[in-house]
Amino acid sequence: MAPRVRLVGAVAGLSACTSLALVSGPWSDRRVSPEQRAALLLKNMTLEEKFAMLHGPATGPCCQCKTSASCAYVGNVAANSRLGIPPINMNDGPQGFRDDNNPGTTTAWPSGMTIGATWDLDAAYEWGAGMGREFYEKGSNIQLGPGLNVARVPRGGRNFEYISGEDPYLGYWMAQSSIKGIQSQKVIANAKHWVQNNQETNRDRVIEEVDERTRFEIYYPPFRGAIVGGVGSFMCSYNKIGNHTSDYAWSCENPVTLKRDLKTLSNFKGFVMSDWGGTHSTSIMQGLDMEMPSADFMNEDRLKAGISGGTITEAAVDDSVFRILLPMFEVGVMDEPLSAWDWNKLSSNTTNDASSASARSLSAKSTALLKNDNAILPLMSGDGSSIAVIGLADGGAVTHGGGSGTVVPSFLATPLSGIRGSVEKKEVLFDDGKNITTAVALAKQVDYAIVFVGTLSGEGSDRDSLSLDDGYWFKNQNALVSAIAKANPKTIVVASIPGATLMPWSKDVAAILTNFMPGQQAGNAIADVLFGRVNPSAKLTFTIPNRENEQNFTTAQWPGLPSKNPVYAEYSEGLLVGYRYYEAHNIQFDTGFPFGHGLSYTKFEYSNLTIGADWQTTFQVTNVGKVAGSEVAQLYLTFPASAGEPPNQLKGFRKTGLLQPSMSETVTLTLVHDDYSIWDVTSHAYKPVTGTFHVKIGSSSRDIRLQAQKNEAEEEIVV
Ligand code: BGC
Repeated sequence: MAPRVRLVGAVAGLSACTSLALVSGPWSDRRVSPEQRAALLLKNMTLEEKFAMLHGPATGPCCQCKTSASCAYVGNVAANSRLGIPPINMNDGPQGFRDDNNPGTTTAWPSGMTIGATWDLDAAYEWGAGMGREFYEKGSNIQLGPGLNVARVPRGGRNFEYISGEDPYLGYWMAQSSIKGIQSQKVIANAKHWVQNNQETNRDRVIEEVDERTRFEIYYPPFRGAIVGGVGSFMCSYNKIGNHTSDYAWSCENPVTLKRDLKTLSNFKGFVMSDWGGTHSTSIMQGLDMEMPSADFMNEDRLKAGISGGTITEAAVDDSVFRILLPMFEVGVMDEPLSAWDWNKLSSNTTNDASSASARSLSAKSTALLKNDNAILPLMSGDGSSIAVIGLADGGAVTHGGGSGTVVPSFLATPLSGIRGSVEKKEVLFDDGKNITTAVALAKQVDYAIVFVGTLSGEGSDRDSLSLDDGYWFKNQNALVSAIAKANPKTIVVASIPGATLMPWSKDVAAILTNFMPGQQAGNAIADVLFGRVNPSAKLTFTIPNRENEQNFTTAQWPGLPSKNPVYAEYSEGLLVGYRYYEAHNIQFDTGFPFGHGLSYTKFEYSNLTIGADWQTTFQVTNVGKVAGSEVAQLYLTFPASAGEPPNQLKGFRKTGLLQPSMSETVTLTLVHDDYSIWDVTSHAYKPVTGTFHVKIGSSSRDIRLQAQKNEAEEEIVV
């Protein structure tokens, strides 16, 4: 018999789908902790009610239909009217609310990778809160984001979605802030894709072969940051994880990565849902809590059969349901009126002036200045100089990547309109660049030529190459830039890119900016930077290579061998991912740019480095230039050689406040236990390293300004 609960009355005026009675029980008492409330509610549930929480709709259409609450969002778990548990309405994606049925009703924010380039925890929070508000306004209580995977493969199709770039430490901190922002809006964040979803080629069959130390030191930290940030849910990925023996399993039924690494060793208390169609069995005992978007495996019949056959325990079912309920209480989903989660809210227009202004300022903050010869930038808006805007600056402007992370913008501020709106005295001329001859003729007539280039990537495939000429319809962009650079010495390039991209012409142009995947405010934001209303402060979160496959990946490493099923991708590079490979092999930059690089319109000096016994590292950053600006100061650590670590790993960063000329800021970065430790595969824990460390402070991984040594002695054992 179903346990007794108290109905406090049906509420008039709610639409059909929210005509659930508000139900109260002992779990409604907000003075009690979320853990206790979840336990109390669980106690009142029948076994059938518990099963119903573990999957999406069993029948009917899936994902953004127009006909019913169960398929209106990208994912859904049915409401429980007896107990007053609201529906769980999940929606893409990591760069804003994707509403294919009501395009243009949400803000197209800069992508995750783009926000990562701010290295600014406040910016990440603002981005998360801005997106979270729109999810709430659309009646969705789970945002399927942020994306956190470390960019192992430069050509990775989804790198643009992931906030970590090439670095686990950056991801650890940026994940936390963005999740706190999302969850501040009573919307549960979803850390995805757990784990090793580092390539799109063969993503639904590849076996990612990566050792435990590498997993914990490189690929897990952003997700562990998410846990520290209080994330309510994880999404397990499409790939398999394991090794060449039979010891591998799908990500969503992998007891090592789900049960041991995530839930036990990383202490994750929330729940794991499968990626869409990523469930392959009733894998509740292996650590999966919820099947999405349907109910093929985690349904009542199969769960019941498992329990009666002794392969599934009721305790495991309780644990999964508790894990789902806990964030619903913690984040506040359970305490909102049921009308908050009404699918009729989907038709509302949630974008507004404030979110658009925030998208603009975030895009400007995430625009990196890679080169600025003779301080050609910023341009003066009123000096009468003539400007030619060439290339992808009008309708074809690149703003976001493809796949489930796509958001149709409510409007698009094109670069051309942004620049035209910034210039007072002279007309801005435009050529779309398709005909190089006419573009060159125009470039010759003007003082400045600004060339907009870009390419795209998306879910489901990796890029064909790192060339700008692949991935978008505009196929001769490199030739265009080179020709314009020859025609006009004051050529400025703005590159909108979804990750590592080759810039073979970088030495020939006067200035380069990249705004990554800037979102709907692309044009206004880039104009803010070009004309100096915003002084750039972003830094690269990935390496811009000098050439294709500079990390010398073999096919066995990526995309994996053999080309048929099963495919194994060997992570034989171990810890040498991204810039760590460049550091270890001392690769010099010719046409490329290093991790952490990004210039400003002013100059910063670093001084007075001190390191305390407790790893408290203090130094000063001074603006020695002529305009106000912010600097992202970076700390790279070199371990004692015996540790077997890559040289120069990011272990601290801080974006200063806006420093006026000659102003200084004292920056303190304190390393904690795990920062000077390595993952020990015997104890399955971080173990501190002893010996001499080198601490390097700088403006990028290759622009180190201060250095010091720190000795970490072995602890004395008193017998
Ligand atoms: C993607 C997820 C997304 C889901 C729902 C999958 O193909 O990998 O990131 O959230 O679809 O659209």
